[in-house]
Amino acid sequence: MIFREDLLEGQVALVTGGGTGIGFVISRELARHGADVAITSRNPEHHTSIVREIEALGRRALAIPADVRDPQQTQRVAERVREEFGRIDVLINNAAGNFLCAAEQLSPNGWRAVVEIVLHGTFHMSQAVLPVMRDQGGGNIVNIGANYAWLAAPYVAHSGAAKAGVLNLTRTLAVEWAPYNVRVNAVTPGPIEETEGVRRLLSDPKTHKAVLDTVPLQRLGRREEIAWAVLFLISPAAAYITGHNLVVDGGMWFNHRMFRPEA
Ligand code: COA
Repeated sequence: MIFREDLLEGQVALVTGGGTGIGFVISRELARHGADVAITSRNPEHHTSIVREIEALGRRALAIPADVRDPQQTQRVAERVREEFGRIDVLINNAAGNFLCAAEQLSPNGWRAVVEIVLHGTFHMSQAVLPVMRDQGGGNIVNIGANYAWLAAPYVAHSGAAKAGVLNLTRTLAVEWAPYNVRVNAVTPGPIEETEGVRRLLSDPKTHKAVLDTVPLQRLGRREEIAWAVLFLISPAAAYITGHNLVVDGGMWFNHRMFRPEA
């Protein structure tokens, strides 16, 4: 354990896309540190194992099938968590969709699907939990970013534009909701092992090596390393931090090879 076991004792967390990948490990780590955890995602098949993990840790779990693109559904999710657990202390906006496609070939539907899941979904879910956090005197929202959001995002223009929007939204909501004692931060992962995205994109050994070469720490990140950044940001240790983007990418975004002739 990196943090105290009872760090989140008595708190309730909601994780979008909490049944798979990074969201799964964030949900588990929140429970391991004392929180009751609700997750939401579209596919109920993704709910069984995370619910089992959370309950095995002695915490209450709730899985709600919903699509974050639909504000009526995000509203229902927030109401359901409040009914069941009485409060929402932490929201992790982790749900995302992505695929590689050249911008010139991207269909209007493909663009819309990703922008709606990532950007609209983050907004709708945040807005839906706000009244709960406001009524109880505060809370924490953490949005999961992408480092290409402030670089360039070739072949993922949809995701890059949406994640850039999420970063701006993080700062704006941090300012607007500070009077409610709601802190809003972001965690930006680099390439993380055991995620569907990396499995799909780095299955070719040459691509895998090329990506590793761009990471100064010379390895993929672990899903736990994203969860620990989240735990820090929602902990009292970060009580004076809001609107921040904590980059957890092994130094990847510094583009360190630019001036190294041997690279
Ligand atoms: N290349 C090009 N276009 C693609 C695509 C790909 N690999 N995958 C999806 N699209 C397009 C579809 O063709 C469709 O557009 P069209 O109607 O013009 O054909 C549009 O995106 C919507 O796709 P669909 O799968 O019907 O939408 P959805 O809302 O159910 O799901 C995604 C959208 C992005 C979540 C889905 O494509 C997906 O499951 N992606 C892989 C899983 C994933 O993203 N995991 C998260 C990693 S961060």
